[in-house]
Amino acid sequence: MSNVICIAVDGPSGAGKSTVAKAVGAALGVEYIDTGAMYRAVGYGMVQRGIGVGEEDREKLEAFLQDAEIDFRQGKVHLNGEDVSGKIRTPEISKMASDCSALAAVRAKLVAAQREMGRKKSVIMDGRDIGTNVFPDAKYKFFLTASAEERARRRLLELEAKYEAEVAAKGAASMEKPEFEQVLADMKQRDYNDSHRALNPLTKAEDAVEIDSTHMNIGQVIDFILDRVAE
Ligand code: DC
Repeated sequence: MSNVICIAVDGPSGAGKSTVAKAVGAALGVEYIDTGAMYRAVGYGMVQRGIGVGEEDREKLEAFLQDAEIDFRQGKVHLNGEDVSGKIRTPEISKMASDCSALAAVRAKLVAAQREMGRKKSVIMDGRDIGTNVFPDAKYKFFLTASAEERARRRLLELEAKYEAEVAAKGAASMEKPEFEQVLADMKQRDYNDSHRALNPLTKAEDAVEIDSTHMNIGQVIDFILDRVAE
């Protein structure tokens, strides 16, 4: 009998999945895998190479995916050996990650890589389809949500910090100054795309435990999950 366990944490953008999953992974000593970062790394690689999501770029996309190596080293996502973690959190790459995640070729590549990562060792994975598709037999499944306004408020804080840090370091930022209304509109658009695509859309697995974190802080969500896993 294998004693490898998988904890799946799914939910929409900005619900706090990665912060929570990272902390739960550290507390339990299991590896944390941010599957959204993998879609973002592919989106980043496509933007770098000028590859679009349309049918006309399909061959270029397949050639790129064939050679693309995506892995985690000390928690940083690497694309073909390059640490891209500092470059994948911009609004442009968020949109491209969401767009490219609807493509069958992209999902096939990343889902296979994720299953391989969880085959030999215990993992906590966050994403959109971990409990429904990547590991439908995961021992623990959580579906983490919060209202769109609350998620946009949290994302705005992250984007503002990134913007200020870039301005302080370089005198200019690689993105426009973030505004709440724009962040909220982008988030709603991404929610729509992620939950309406044909392939493995964002949905709660029937057996997942739903956690609405709108009025919870991160520590409360972490404790809730740790309590469930300890049961
Ligand atoms: O979690 P995130 O915002 O970093 O994810 C970026 C995009 O990747 C998101 O818009 C949807 C997609 N994604 C997915 O389709 N399946 C996953 N398991 C994780 C992310």
